[in-house]
Amino acid sequence: MLVALDRSAPTPLAVQVADGLRGAALDGRLRVGERVPATRVLARELGVSRTVTAAAYDQLVAEGWLGARHGSGTFVLAAPSGAAPRGSDASSLPPGDSNDALLPPGGGAATDLRPGSPCLEVLDTASWRRAWRRAGDLDPAARPEYAGVPAFRAAVSEHLLRHRGLVGADVLATAGTTAGLTELVALLTRRLGRPVRAGFEDPGYRRAAGVLRAAGAEVIALAVDAEGVVVGNLPAGLDLVYVTPAHQYPLGGRLPVARRAALVERARAEGFVLVEDDYDGELRYDVAPLPVLAALGPDVVVHLGTAGKIATPDLGVGWLVAPPALAAELLAQRRTTGTRPAPAGQQVLAAWVHDGGLGRHLTRLRRELRVRRGLVVDAVRAAGHGVLGDRAGAHLVVPLPSAALERGVVDAAGGAGVLLDGLAAHHLDDTRERRSGVLVGWAAPSRTELGAALERVRGVLAGAAAGPA
Ligand SMILES: Cc1ncc(COP(=O)(O)O)c(C=O)c1O
Repeated sequence: MLVALDRSAPTPLAVQVADGLRGAALDGRLRVGERVPATRVLARELGVSRTVTAAAYDQLVAEGWLGARHGSGTFVLAAPSGAAPRGSDASSLPPGDSNDALLPPGGGAATDLRPGSPCLEVLDTASWRRAWRRAGDLDPAARPEYAGVPAFRAAVSEHLLRHRGLVGADVLATAGTTAGLTELVALLTRRLGRPVRAGFEDPGYRRAAGVLRAAGAEVIALAVDAEGVVVGNLPAGLDLVYVTPAHQYPLGGRLPVARRAALVERARAEGFVLVEDDYDGELRYDVAPLPVLAALGPDVVVHLGTAGKIATPDLGVGWLVAPPALAAELLAQRRTTGTRPAPAGQQVLAAWVHDGGLGRHLTRLRRELRVRRGLVVDAVRAAGHGVLGDRAGAHLVVPLPSAALERGVVDAAGGAGVLLDGLAAHHLDDTRERRSGVLVGWAAPSRTELGAALERVRGVLAGAAAGPA
């Protein structure tokens, strides 16, 4: 809900709508570049006349932070001062950067092509809203469910069977991937009575590395090649190994079956917990998915999934499948601390699955992401560069020959109003061998906006020498 109205207040409704939208931009619910609902749609939602919402938009356009783009709606052009960027999370920027610094001169909207955001353009908002309405029908007698809402757990189990080939998964709800990892590393640390020694892909998903480090773990770099983690190079003495086999983050490789089997064998032989971050496993759009690690090694693998990529991270919903004894310990830990993932988002996802909404969305999403990847690849190749990463998910890497060039491309793109991410920030701090390149994501903007941004990216890349593909 972007705006809440108080009909008993003396403030005119149009002013309340304008205040509400300003507030949404200030607290990050609306971000720069995002489209605001059409005046007619917002008016219907709020139960006011369209004159009210139109007057509010006129005011905000006059103030300079909303603007209409011909034929495609009204967008947030600039955040009111003090606003926090959302989705385009400032904490994901390399130190010293800020979104504001990267906005094009004149304060126009920047297009965010950094990976991480979902693709909402193809979301069927009617089915999404229906799910929210159904989720609001709560049973007042419901007791806390430490494992998660039963309907959600059943829906995810079915989802894992259908889309990830995982049979009979006993699902625990989480508040997302990193939340699940936080619980797991706390448990292992307590069990071991010393810091966890965690093997971690390098480059890898820095938020997960942050979770491990925040829990006092020693994070040990694991080499990654174009196919994913190099299993033969795994050091001995690890307690946990964290990998992204479906689509290595950020390089985009798909771990071959032989390496998957070897990883599971090492986990069994050496007794480490193998964590499978399956953040966008549903988003392969041209080849059949390989068996998930959890299917190959249900006795040693903790599988983490998230609704962050297939719906939205704002839902704060994920799931975890663990070997039964470990799952029982995680539940006991939740009971001891009285913490459980909030049920609201789970109710929404369960209702959406029940309605068939998620299934239909995934079909549309894969189709859209495949088309968009084609646009990105064409733009990058036209600029004389190669790409790294499978035909999956919502990002790829453009390799570059040096860190200086990477920095230059990120800065030049920022100057042209396109936010890109460099590979440098995805390496562990003590990395010996760094790769250079930029990550290009295609989920966040509308397809039209993506096309316009890619024109600018092409221009920037054409001025930079290509790196090893
Ligand atoms: C590699 C990886 N894992 C997991 C996630 C999702 O994490 P969460 O569910 O904590 O939002 C992301 C999101 O960007 C990701 O890039």
